[in-house]
Amino acid sequence: MKDKFPILLTGAGGQVGYEVNRLASERGCSLIALTRQQLDIGDGEAVEQIVSQLHPSLVINAAAYTAVDKAENEVEAAMRVNRQGPANLAASCHNHQIPLIHLSTDYVFDGNKAGAYDENDSVAPTGVYGRSKWEGEEEVRTRLKEHLIIRVSWVFGPHGNNFVKTMLRLAAERDELRVVADQQGCPTCATHIAEALLTLAEKITKGIDDIAWGTYHFCGLPETTWHGFAETIIEEACKIGLLDHVIPIHPITTSDYPTPARRPQNSALDCRKIMNTFDMKFPNWQEGLTTMLKTVMK
Ligand SMILES: NC(=O)c1ccc[n+]([C@@H]2O[C@H](COP(=O)([O-])OP(=O)(O)OC[C@H]3O[C@@H](n4cnc5c(N)ncnc54)[C@H](OP(=O)(O)O)[C@@H]3O)[C@@H](O)[C@H]2O)c1
Repeated sequence: MKDKFPILLTGAGGQVGYEVNRLASERGCSLIALTRQQLDIGDGEAVEQIVSQLHPSLVINAAAYTAVDKAENEVEAAMRVNRQGPANLAASCHNHQIPLIHLSTDYVFDGNKAGAYDENDSVAPTGVYGRSKWEGEEEVRTRLKEHLIIRVSWVFGPHGNNFVKTMLRLAAERDELRVVADQQGCPTCATHIAEALLTLAEKITKGIDDIAWGTYHFCGLPETTWHGFAETIIEEACKIGLLDHVIPIHPITTSDYPTPARRPQNSALDCRKIMNTFDMKFPNWQEGLTTMLKTVMK
């Protein structure tokens, strides 16, 4: 393990990538952050060239095609980034004996389980995005032993577009909102994901022999619905003065709000494995939300 070499981060312009880069720089951690414009992970030659040139101690892949509904009509584009991208990274990491942390999603599950999904549950994606992410996971597994695949869910953060920002915008424009109340899941703050990734990175750069490689779930607690999440967003935004009054949020069903891609009804993730294996604390998304709203306010 060559810890004098930097960590290479791909997808640095996204919600999670931005937070990883920001936190790494705050902590004085040596990291080279590349946006899509600087490295297209779908281009295998470009990936190999960068990896061989930089020879990083670790690669963190935060790049992805995340437009869940658009993916239904842009199958090739989604597959290029979400399947071929991680395949390219894993192949280059294998060539140069570099570990890879790759992010994946709760949308690999169909949502029919009654409780939270653990890492042993069977996948059955309901749309193109989920399938492309699952196939990307498999590319990593078959090409590189030294990998951590971290499945996260319902990501929000100060940088980029997400459900929190949509709710804030709509609440400023409308007198009431209607939000889906029959999909259960776990919002996850991008800052908490970034903290977890840097904790894992630190453990990896200390010595790869002790690392329990494999697939892990990481998300915020407690479980909620999109409706519950929306109510908390509006309440918190009012508390800190980002909105001037609470508006009614009416619960609706998935069938009242049809979307091109079918979402899992339950995609709550059981995170005990990552917490126990790497001695981490369960992140609370409400705390992450308050911090994010204060950042957005500045
Ligand atoms: N967002 C969620 O709710 C959610 C939920 C579950 C799991 N995840 C997973 O969490 C990870 C991080 O997601 P996120 O929320 O940070 O996504 P995001 O904000 O959409 O960021 C993804 C980044 O990847 C970049 N990208 C797209 N195609 C690329 C390519 N070919 N090469 C390099 N970079 C490329 C995008 O650039 P452009 O913006 O320029 O296209 C964007 O900066 C992803 O693996 C995602 O699948 C996300």
